[in-house]
Amino acid sequence: MKTLAKVTVSVPATTSNLGPGFDCLGLALDLRNELTLELMDGKGPAVVEIEGEGEKELPRGETNYMVKAARRILPKSLPGRLVFRSKNRIPLARGLGSSAAAVVAGLWAGAHLFGTLRRSEDELEDLAVAMEGHPDNVAPCVHGGLTASVHHNGVLRVQGLEIHPSFSGAVCVPALELPTRRARKVLPKRVTLTDAVFNLQRAVLLPRALATARTTYLPELMEDRLHQPYRAPLVPGLYDAIAAAYRAGAAGAALSGSGSAVFAFVEGGAGPRVGEAMRRAFRKHRVSARAFPVAVDHHGVRIER
Ligand code: HSE
Repeated sequence: MKTLAKVTVSVPATTSNLGPGFDCLGLALDLRNELTLELMDGKGPAVVEIEGEGEKELPRGETNYMVKAARRILPKSLPGRLVFRSKNRIPLARGLGSSAAAVVAGLWAGAHLFGTLRRSEDELEDLAVAMEGHPDNVAPCVHGGLTASVHHNGVLRVQGLEIHPSFSGAVCVPALELPTRRARKVLPKRVTLTDAVFNLQRAVLLPRALATARTTYLPELMEDRLHQPYRAPLVPGLYDAIAAAYRAGAAGAALSGSGSAVFAFVEGGAGPRVGEAMRRAFRKHRVSARAFPVAVDHHGVRIER
């Protein structure tokens, strides 16, 4: 079979909320999925090959997120068959932005398959939010770094925020799949003014502390009352893992997105130690987990070739 067109796109994992920034703050992590999309001569539905995270459970055909996203961009009739090959490193259903990554990879691959961009990047980003529903994952996945985002009347407004170069991260991924839909069902429809103000104060101050690496108040600034307390029962060991991260020297720690992973900010070489401390804390709750250090990603979506 002959290749008629080909593109490779790489997309980062993302951690959102960062404690108080519920549905607003997001951070890109240097843990990437790489999608190669080829148009091969021949006919038939899209072919999907996946290696790594989700290789057993992710759908292979037209229902796959990457395929759906690329189809939104590509012409209805193509002179060949689409083949998607993805190397996945982002764990699924753990609050690390795997579905945002799949949608962004599919859209950017579709847009760049024939060399010239078929849509503006802003349009692609709005489409990604419309398809995936979580601007706080889509924005850092597209732009890299730390972002704040607002989705207003179908348009995404993103502000990149500074993050001090001394920060990197540690991620602990429990063997607990927690789909975002489920983790949102446990949230209250209404919150008290006291809790709203509690989060507002922290969400406003947190970016400044992350920009300046003023870590003294970071543990306080990463506290949350809008989602983490409601989700904690779904993630046995969550609070112990956060406490263990602090004891091991983390600068800040919180549930990653809607969970079940935990993300910790670290400075210097503390990543492995903090990750291991969180892993052990989960083990005490009979939850097996894996942990690894991770750098902040500053690139976002990348067209590799
Ligand atoms: N902010 C969203 C949530 C992220 O916490 O539900 C979903 O990944």
